[in-house]
Amino acid sequence: MSLRLGDVAPNFQANTTIGPIDFYEYLGDSWGVLFSHPADYTPVCTTELGRTASLGAEFARRNVKVLAVSVDDLEKHKGWIGDINETQQVDVQFPIIADESRQVANLYDMIHPNASETFTVRSLFVIGPDKKVKLIITYPASTGRNFHEVLRVIDSLQLTAQYSVATPADWKDGEDVIVVPAISTEDAIKKFEKGVKVVKPYLRYTPQPNK
Ligand code: BEZ
Repeated sequence: MSLRLGDVAPNFQANTTIGPIDFYEYLGDSWGVLFSHPADYTPVCTTELGRTASLGAEFARRNVKVLAVSVDDLEKHKGWIGDINETQQVDVQFPIIADESRQVANLYDMIHPNASETFTVRSLFVIGPDKKVKLIITYPASTGRNFHEVLRVIDSLQLTAQYSVATPADWKDGEDVIVVPAISTEDAIKKFEKGVKVVKPYLRYTPQPNK
């Protein structure tokens, strides 16, 4: 059965471009992003891994460890990293899993046979420090993902894990947030020192608490 939000992310051992890893050991207490791409030496994937590498400091600042996966072998991954670095002007440091056996692809349901019998689609999982799945997105092979959006969701996840708030449509770090319905307006006014704007009894905004 496929994974759902809140499920425990399965652990695995795998060969990667930085050596063999145990997924849980690699993550430690960090957040994780595990994402698949269809194949090495393909154009969209080259830009995606390049963008991920260029955002390395942004992932690190949020205490997020990144891992890519495809069903290509280690030698192919290593050769392709040279091309990614050259064409995208980056230095790929995060590991790419060589999943020729499809162990990881099957554990995370990354092969969608009606899209492709053999290749992984563009799946992406955000995993919390509790090893639970916090976000799942799936894109087709022909559409590169927006990694700024991944960072935006991580900002929301990390904020909402800490405070009794949710984030509205198109929210970005620093903007006002929503008081969760479980908190009464009376309690919200006591809890959120920066103030509460009541638009409707169920729609209440407060400035981002940790800014
Ligand atoms: C790409 O990464 O460019 C790609 C991979 C598979 C199908 C289409 C595009």
